[in-house]
Amino acid sequence: MSDTPPLLVRLDALSKSYYEAGQEKCVLEAVDCSIGAGQFICLLGKSGSGKSTLLNLISGIDRPSGGGVHIREGGSEVELTALNEHQRTLFRRRNIGIIFQFFNLIPTLTVLENVALPVELADGDRKGHRRAEDLLDRVGLGDRLDSFPDRLSGGEQQRVAIARALIHDPVLLLADEPTGNLDEGTGDAVLDMLLELSRDAGKTLIMATHEEDIASLADAVYFLERGQLVSHYAPAANEVNEADVVQAQGRAENSAAVQR
Ligand SMILES: Nc1ncnc2c1ncn2[C@@H]1O[C@H](COP(=O)(O)OP(=O)(O)OP(=O)(O)O)[C@@H](O)[C@H]1O
Ligand SMILES: [Mg+2]
Repeated sequence: MSDTPPLLVRLDALSKSYYEAGQEKCVLEAVDCSIGAGQFICLLGKSGSGKSTLLNLISGIDRPSGGGVHIREGGSEVELTALNEHQRTLFRRRNIGIIFQFFNLIPTLTVLENVALPVELADGDRKGHRRAEDLLDRVGLGDRLDSFPDRLSGGEQQRVAIARALIHDPVLLLADEPTGNLDEGTGDAVLDMLLELSRDAGKTLIMATHEEDIASLADAVYFLERGQLVSHYAPAANEVNEADVVQAQGRAENSAAVQR
Protein backbone atom coordinates (compact mmCIF):
# COMPACT_ATOMS: atom_id res chain seq x y z
CA MET A 1 0.00 0.00 0.00
CA SER A 2 1.44 3.38 -0.95
CA ASP A 3 1.60 6.17 1.64
CA THR A 4 -0.41 9.26 0.77
CA PRO A 5 1.70 12.35 1.44
CA PRO A 6 0.14 15.02 3.66
CA LEU A 7 -1.66 17.74 1.75
CA LEU A 8 0.38 20.88 1.09
CA VAL A 9 -1.58 22.86 -1.50
CA ARG A 10 -5.34 22.88 -2.03
CA LEU A 11 -7.04 24.80 -4.82
CA ASP A 12 -10.71 25.29 -4.19
CA ALA A 13 -12.86 26.34 -7.17
CA LEU A 14 -10.07 28.65 -8.26
CA SER A 15 -11.11 31.01 -11.04
CA LYS A 16 -9.42 33.79 -12.93
CA SER A 17 -10.86 36.06 -15.58
CA TYR A 18 -9.30 38.98 -17.36
CA TYR A 19 -11.24 41.80 -18.96
CA GLU A 20 -10.11 43.19 -22.26
CA ALA A 21 -12.05 45.82 -24.19
CA GLY A 22 -15.07 45.08 -22.01
CA GLN A 23 -14.92 41.36 -22.80
CA GLU A 24 -14.45 38.79 -20.06
CA LYS A 25 -11.82 36.17 -20.79
CA CYS A 26 -12.03 33.23 -18.42
CA VAL A 27 -8.59 31.68 -18.04
CA LEU A 28 -9.26 29.39 -15.07
CA GLU A 29 -12.72 28.10 -14.34
CA ALA A 30 -13.33 26.66 -10.87
CA VAL A 31 -10.15 24.62 -10.69
CA ASP A 32 -9.99 22.10 -7.83
CA CYS A 33 -6.75 20.35 -7.02
CA SER A 34 -4.90 18.83 -4.08
CA ILE A 35 -1.12 18.50 -4.03
CA GLY A 36 0.73 16.41 -1.49
CA ALA A 37 3.93 17.47 0.31
CA GLY A 38 7.14 16.39 -1.40
CA GLN A 39 5.55 15.76 -4.79
CA PHE A 40 6.85 16.83 -8.17
CA ILE A 41 3.88 18.09 -10.19
CA CYS A 42 4.11 18.77 -13.88
CA LEU A 43 1.74 21.29 -15.43
CA LEU A 44 1.31 20.97 -19.18
CA GLY A 45 -0.82 22.99 -21.57
CA LYS A 46 -0.65 25.00 -24.75
CA SER A 47 0.67 28.53 -24.78
CA GLY A 48 -2.05 30.75 -23.32
CA SER A 49 -3.76 27.89 -21.48
CA GLY A 50 -3.14 29.57 -18.11
CA LYS A 51 -0.07 27.83 -16.64
CA SER A 52 1.63 31.06 -15.56
CA THR A 53 -1.67 32.45 -14.36
CA LEU A 54 -2.17 29.40 -12.14
CA LEU A 55 1.38 29.57 -10.73
CA ASN A 56 0.97 33.29 -10.03
CA LEU A 57 -2.20 32.55 -8.08
CA ILE A 58 -0.56 29.75 -6.08
CA SER A 59 2.33 32.08 -5.19
CA GLY A 60 -0.06 34.85 -4.20
CA ILE A 61 1.54 37.25 -6.69
CA ASP A 62 -1.85 37.53 -8.36
CA ARG A 63 -5.40 37.43 -6.95
CA PRO A 64 -8.11 35.08 -8.23
CA SER A 65 -11.52 36.20 -9.45
CA GLY A 66 -13.06 33.48 -7.29
CA GLY A 67 -12.23 30.49 -5.13
CA GLY A 68 -9.19 30.03 -2.94
CA VAL A 69 -5.60 28.84 -2.61
CA HIS A 70 -4.88 27.06 0.68
CA ILE A 71 -1.32 26.17 1.70
CA ARG A 72 -0.24 24.34 4.82
CA GLU A 73 2.20 26.27 7.01
CA GLY A 74 3.41 24.39 10.05
CA GLY A 75 0.42 22.53 11.42
CA SER A 76 -2.32 24.68 9.94
CA GLU A 77 -3.75 25.53 6.57
CA VAL A 78 -3.50 29.16 5.49
CA GLU A 79 -5.94 30.61 2.99
CA LEU A 80 -3.44 32.59 0.98
CA THR A 81 -6.18 34.25 -1.03
CA ALA A 82 -7.71 35.70 2.13
CA LEU A 83 -4.52 37.57 3.02
CA ASN A 84 -3.73 41.13 1.96
CA GLU A 85 -0.83 41.86 -0.38
CA HIS A 86 1.69 42.52 2.40
CA GLN A 87 0.69 39.36 4.25
CA ARG A 88 0.97 37.35 1.03
CA THR A 89 4.46 38.75 0.43
CA LEU A 90 5.53 37.72 3.93
CA PHE A 91 3.95 34.28 3.47
CA ARG A 92 5.82 33.87 0.18
CA ARG A 93 9.12 34.85 1.81
CA ARG A 94 8.63 32.15 4.41
CA ASN A 95 7.20 29.35 2.31
CA ILE A 96 7.60 29.68 -1.45
CA GLY A 97 10.55 29.76 -3.85
CA ILE A 98 9.97 30.78 -7.47
CA ILE A 99 12.03 30.05 -10.58
CA PHE A 100 11.13 32.01 -13.72
CA GLN A 101 11.80 31.35 -17.39
CA PHE A 102 13.93 34.49 -17.72
CA PHE A 103 15.81 34.03 -14.44
CA ASN A 104 14.81 37.48 -13.05
CA LEU A 105 18.14 38.11 -11.35
CA ILE A 106 18.90 41.65 -10.21
CA PRO A 107 21.60 42.94 -12.58
CA THR A 108 23.20 45.34 -10.08
CA LEU A 109 23.75 42.65 -7.44
CA THR A 110 26.46 40.01 -7.53
CA VAL A 111 25.64 36.31 -7.74
CA LEU A 112 26.10 35.95 -3.97
CA GLU A 113 23.97 39.02 -3.21
CA ASN A 114 21.19 37.84 -5.55
CA VAL A 115 20.97 34.49 -3.77
CA ALA A 116 21.20 35.95 -0.26
CA LEU A 117 18.62 38.67 -0.96
CA PRO A 118 15.45 36.77 0.04
CA VAL A 119 16.90 35.97 3.46
CA GLU A 120 18.12 39.52 3.94
CA LEU A 121 14.71 40.88 3.03
CA ALA A 122 13.02 38.48 5.43
CA ASP A 123 15.45 38.79 8.33
CA GLY A 124 17.12 42.13 7.72
CA ASP A 125 20.67 40.87 8.25
CA ARG A 126 23.52 39.24 6.37
CA LYS A 127 23.17 35.75 7.76
CA GLY A 128 22.05 34.53 4.34
CA HIS A 129 25.55 34.86 2.91
CA ARG A 130 26.92 31.64 4.37
CA ARG A 131 23.94 29.58 3.20
CA ALA A 132 24.07 31.32 -0.18
CA GLU A 133 27.73 30.32 -0.57
CA ASP A 134 26.84 26.77 0.31
CA LEU A 135 23.98 26.59 -2.20
CA LEU A 136 26.05 28.23 -4.93
CA ASP A 137 28.68 25.56 -4.31
CA ARG A 138 26.01 22.91 -4.75
CA VAL A 139 24.90 24.33 -8.10
CA GLY A 140 28.54 24.47 -9.24
CA LEU A 141 29.01 28.21 -9.02
CA GLY A 142 31.12 28.48 -5.88
CA ASP A 143 33.81 30.28 -7.87
CA ARG A 144 31.44 32.91 -9.33
CA LEU A 145 30.19 34.55 -6.12
CA ASP A 146 31.34 38.04 -7.04
CA SER A 147 30.34 37.93 -10.72
CA PHE A 148 27.42 39.97 -11.96
CA PRO A 149 24.57 38.13 -13.73
CA ASP A 150 25.38 39.54 -17.18
CA ARG A 151 28.75 37.76 -17.03
CA LEU A 152 27.04 34.35 -16.73
CA SER A 153 25.59 32.06 -19.37
CA GLY A 154 21.83 31.38 -19.39
CA GLY A 155 22.31 28.01 -17.71
CA GLU A 156 24.51 29.56 -15.03
CA GLN A 157 21.99 32.33 -14.40
CA GLN A 158 19.23 29.75 -13.98
CA ARG A 159 21.40 27.83 -11.50
CA VAL A 160 21.77 31.08 -9.51
CA ALA A 161 17.98 31.44 -9.65
CA ILE A 162 17.56 27.88 -8.33
CA ALA A 163 19.90 28.65 -5.43
CA ARG A 164 17.94 31.85 -4.75
CA ALA A 165 14.65 29.94 -4.75
CA LEU A 166 16.01 27.53 -2.13
CA ILE A 167 17.82 30.01 0.12
CA HIS A 168 15.00 30.45 2.62
CA ASP A 169 14.26 26.72 2.71
CA PRO A 170 10.70 27.04 1.36
CA VAL A 171 8.29 24.09 1.49
CA LEU A 172 7.01 24.87 -2.00
CA LEU A 173 8.93 25.52 -5.19
CA LEU A 174 7.16 26.94 -8.25
CA ALA A 175 8.97 26.84 -11.58
CA ASP A 176 7.53 28.51 -14.67
CA GLU A 177 9.20 26.97 -17.74
CA PRO A 178 12.59 26.99 -16.03
CA THR A 179 14.31 25.45 -19.05
CA GLY A 180 12.26 27.35 -21.65
CA ASN A 181 15.02 29.82 -22.41
CA LEU A 182 17.90 27.34 -22.48
CA ASP A 183 19.23 25.08 -25.20
CA GLU A 184 18.36 21.41 -24.81
CA GLY A 185 21.60 20.19 -23.25
CA THR A 186 21.83 23.09 -20.81
CA GLY A 187 18.13 22.77 -20.02
CA ASP A 188 18.49 19.07 -19.21
CA ALA A 189 21.42 19.75 -16.89
CA VAL A 190 19.57 22.57 -15.11
CA LEU A 191 16.46 20.42 -14.79
CA ASP A 192 18.45 17.51 -13.32
CA MET A 193 19.94 19.88 -10.80
CA LEU A 194 16.58 21.38 -9.87
CA LEU A 195 14.96 17.95 -9.46
CA GLU A 196 17.86 16.60 -7.41
CA LEU A 197 18.03 19.59 -5.07
CA SER A 198 14.29 19.68 -4.71
CA ARG A 199 14.03 15.92 -4.03
CA ASP A 200 16.99 15.88 -1.63
CA ALA A 201 15.46 18.67 0.39
CA GLY A 202 11.96 17.07 0.32
CA LYS A 203 10.42 20.06 -1.48
CA THR A 204 7.14 20.12 -3.31
CA LEU A 205 7.79 21.27 -6.86
CA ILE A 206 5.13 22.51 -9.27
CA MET A 207 6.57 23.04 -12.72
CA ALA A 208 4.89 24.52 -15.78
CA THR A 209 6.51 23.33 -18.96
CA HIS A 210 6.02 22.67 -22.66
CA GLU A 211 8.43 19.77 -22.54
CA GLU A 212 6.35 16.65 -22.26
CA ASP A 213 9.29 14.34 -21.64
CA ILE A 214 9.68 15.99 -18.23
CA ALA A 215 6.27 14.51 -17.41
CA SER A 216 7.80 11.05 -17.16
CA LEU A 217 9.74 12.19 -14.09
CA ALA A 218 6.74 13.67 -12.28
CA ASP A 219 4.59 12.18 -9.53
CA ALA A 220 1.53 13.65 -11.21
CA VAL A 221 0.84 15.41 -14.48
CA TYR A 222 -1.92 17.95 -15.07
CA PHE A 223 -3.12 19.36 -18.37
CA LEU A 224 -4.57 22.85 -18.43
CA GLU A 225 -7.11 23.24 -21.17
CA ARG A 226 -9.95 25.72 -21.67
CA GLY A 227 -9.80 26.84 -18.09
CA GLN A 228 -9.88 23.34 -16.65
CA LEU A 229 -7.33 21.02 -15.15
CA VAL A 230 -8.86 18.39 -17.36
CA SER A 231 -6.80 15.34 -16.67
CA HIS A 232 -4.11 14.06 -14.44
CA TYR A 233 -2.39 10.81 -13.93
CA ALA A 234 0.43 9.54 -11.80
CA PRO A 235 3.09 7.87 -13.91
CA ALA A 236 5.34 5.34 -12.26
CA ALA A 237 8.81 6.85 -12.38
CA ASN A 238 10.54 6.27 -15.73
CA GLU A 239 7.72 4.17 -17.10
CA VAL A 240 6.03 6.82 -19.17
CA ASN A 241 6.84 7.09 -22.83
CA GLU A 242 5.65 9.51 -25.45
CA ALA A 243 2.68 7.30 -26.34
CA ASP A 244 1.42 7.53 -22.75
CA VAL A 245 1.63 11.31 -22.84
CA VAL A 246 -0.25 11.47 -26.15
CA GLN A 247 -2.85 9.07 -24.75
CA ALA A 248 -3.22 11.18 -21.63
CA GLN A 249 -3.66 14.26 -23.80
CA GLY A 250 -6.36 12.40 -25.69
CA ARG A 251 -8.09 11.66 -22.39
CA ALA A 252 -7.76 15.33 -21.51
CA GLU A 253 -9.39 16.34 -24.77
CA ASN A 254 -12.20 13.83 -24.36
CA SER A 255 -12.81 14.98 -20.84
CA ALA A 256 -12.86 18.63 -21.96
CA ALA A 257 -15.28 17.72 -24.73
CA VAL A 258 -17.57 16.03 -22.21
CA GLN A 259 -17.48 19.10 -20.00
CA ARG A 260 -18.31 21.53 -22.83
N1 LIG B 1 -2.91 40.80 -17.41
C1 LIG B 1 -3.59 40.15 -18.36
N2 LIG B 1 -4.62 40.76 -19.01
C2 LIG B 1 -5.33 40.13 -19.96
N3 LIG B 1 -5.13 38.84 -20.31
C3 LIG B 1 -4.13 38.20 -19.70
C4 LIG B 1 -3.31 38.79 -18.70
N4 LIG B 1 -2.40 37.88 -18.25
C5 LIG B 1 -2.65 36.77 -18.96
N5 LIG B 1 -3.67 36.94 -19.81
C6 LIG B 1 -4.22 35.95 -20.72
O1 LIG B 1 -4.51 34.77 -20.01
C7 LIG B 1 -4.25 33.63 -20.79
C8 LIG B 1 -3.32 32.69 -20.06
O2 LIG B 1 -2.04 33.29 -19.99
P1 LIG B 1 -0.82 32.55 -19.30
O3 LIG B 1 0.33 33.50 -19.39
O4 LIG B 1 -1.22 32.08 -17.96
O5 LIG B 1 -0.62 31.30 -20.28
P2 LIG B 1 0.53 30.20 -20.27
O6 LIG B 1 -0.12 28.88 -20.27
O7 LIG B 1 1.50 30.49 -19.18
O8 LIG B 1 1.21 30.46 -21.69
P3 LIG B 1 2.76 30.27 -22.12
O9 LIG B 1 2.95 28.79 -22.29
O10 LIG B 1 2.82 31.01 -23.43
O11 LIG B 1 3.63 30.87 -21.07
C9 LIG B 1 -3.72 34.15 -22.12
O12 LIG B 1 -4.75 34.16 -23.05
C10 LIG B 1 -3.26 35.54 -21.81
O13 LIG B 1 -3.37 36.38 -22.92
MG1 LIG C 1 3.50 30.99 -19.15
